[in-house]
Amino acid sequence: MTLQDLIDMKAAALEKARNAENAEALEGVRIEYLARKGLLPKVMQELKNVSPEEKPMFGKTVNDFKNELAERIKTKQAEFAASGTSAGAGFDLTQPGQWQGLGTRHPITQITDRITRIFQTLGFTVADGPDIETVWNNFDALNTPADHPSRDEQDTFYLNNGDLMRCHTSPVQVRYMMEHKPPVRIISPGRCYRRDTPDATHSANFHQVEGLYVDENVSLADLKGTLSYFARELMGPNVKIRFRPHFFPFTEPSVEVDFTCHVCNGKGCRVCKNSGWIEILGAGMVDPNVFQSVGYDSSKVTGFAFGMGIERITMILYGIHDIRNLYENDVRFLSQF
Ligand code: DAH
Repeated sequence: MTLQDLIDMKAAALEKARNAENAEALEGVRIEYLARKGLLPKVMQELKNVSPEEKPMFGKTVNDFKNELAERIKTKQAEFAASGTSAGAGFDLTQPGQWQGLGTRHPITQITDRITRIFQTLGFTVADGPDIETVWNNFDALNTPADHPSRDEQDTFYLNNGDLMRCHTSPVQVRYMMEHKPPVRIISPGRCYRRDTPDATHSANFHQVEGLYVDENVSLADLKGTLSYFARELMGPNVKIRFRPHFFPFTEPSVEVDFTCHVCNGKGCRVCKNSGWIEILGAGMVDPNVFQSVGYDSSKVTGFAFGMGIERITMILYGIHDIRNLYENDVRFLSQF
């Protein structure tokens, strides 16, 4: 056997190992060359017949041959085992699978759905509007004149084309009334944007639910009845609500609505700052100017509207102290809900 024969043999062996299509074929190559009765031990025996000058080179080539082939077979066996190409090679079909934990719905989504469902049982339907709004829908039509502080660039994000990021969900009222005749009964959850510096209770992007009910003879008593029902469904049968006079441009009269504190049931505690009450939402009777903007006849119809912050309600219900927890998407936080 010449050195060249040996080199050719090595090339052929490595080629066979490379082309082996499964673990069995690979094992065949190993037996052919490396096993005790394989070709390589036979070549070793040839060594004694090789001339003294050629012997060192021949010996080194045989050794390299053995090592390289063994290495290639080992790597390839590992590949087969990992890919499961061969059922025999390290792939145990009886092993239990890896449990991929189920995700949970975000607390904001859960509370939004709960609020929406409560109003749906009263016959409200869900209406939607875009995050990018016209100044008219977001302000003018809602009786909010150009000199109103909330129109300041300090408070609202304006776009270069003169539109804005809606700072409340109230423009959905406008859109809906422009397209539908009364009676109207809608609920509209969605994102809002304000130029607030983020802290424990503020976020530049948050969520509200808007409500609107317009028909003949809708009164403040209807508003109170509706919100009492809502409060009981959300917080439990013992909750009470109260109206406090307030001002919103789009309602007259306007109120802020408090619920009895869910922690102390109205007795007074740290959470409600000893008042027994927690402010939950804003509401009121739709201002006739709003009806005029959307083409409703305010001598025929009346209505109530309300708006509430979903983050605030979520934080109250779950005892969350920092609004930023709701946006960091830390699964250790989210998986608790
Ligand atoms: N848009 C108000 C806000 O962002 C919330 C609100 C108050 C909505 C009274 C209403 C309402 O529809 O009648 O603070």
